[in-house]
Amino acid sequence: MKEKKLNPVIVDKIRKAVDDARAEQRPLAVLFVCLGNICRSPAADGIMTKMAQEAGIEEKFMVDSCGFYGGHAGDLPDLRMRKAALQRGYHLDHRSRTIRPSDFDNFDLIFGMDASNLDDLHDAAPTLEAEEKIIPMASLAVNHPEADSVPDPYWSGADGFYLVLDILEDACSTLLNEIKDNM
Ligand code: 4NP
Repeated sequence: MKEKKLNPVIVDKIRKAVDDARAEQRPLAVLFVCLGNICRSPAADGIMTKMAQEAGIEEKFMVDSCGFYGGHAGDLPDLRMRKAALQRGYHLDHRSRTIRPSDFDNFDLIFGMDASNLDDLHDAAPTLEAEEKIIPMASLAVNHPEADSVPDPYWSGADGFYLVLDILEDACSTLLNEIKDNM
């Protein structure tokens, strides 16, 4: 199967974040960001949390998610996303929230799902150091060479939600391996 090559700049960013967290004896803080924070980013949060639990390293992580659009603030993830995720064993119980300026201080790595989320993250980052934390989630989906984003499923049919899970599982698995190897 064709694989997407991991960008060495991104690998370095992840390693540096792991090194910093280890040196400060604190969990690595990872934030997933999409638009509504009811489909893609809470799914990434749930997948990463479960994978870390299965690997027995959940205490080494702090995982959260948020979005740029506040129209669903306080809501559980979209029912279609929750149903698709549950079929794969992920219980999504996150409550939607919008991004805060303090997120750029409190998280080591900040993953955007698509080009629009990434543009918004770069615009919102208060410092160059904060911008350095931003990573395209799809860049870690090595088994989805065709995916240049985690596409917004909100207006799509059911297939869109399964595709989101496929890409996110791929990306989270890459992230977990990079982190485990450097912890
Ligand atoms: P998400 O999906 O960004 O993956 O949570 C969306 C959720 C809601 C809307 C758009 C995208 N919306 O327009 O309400």
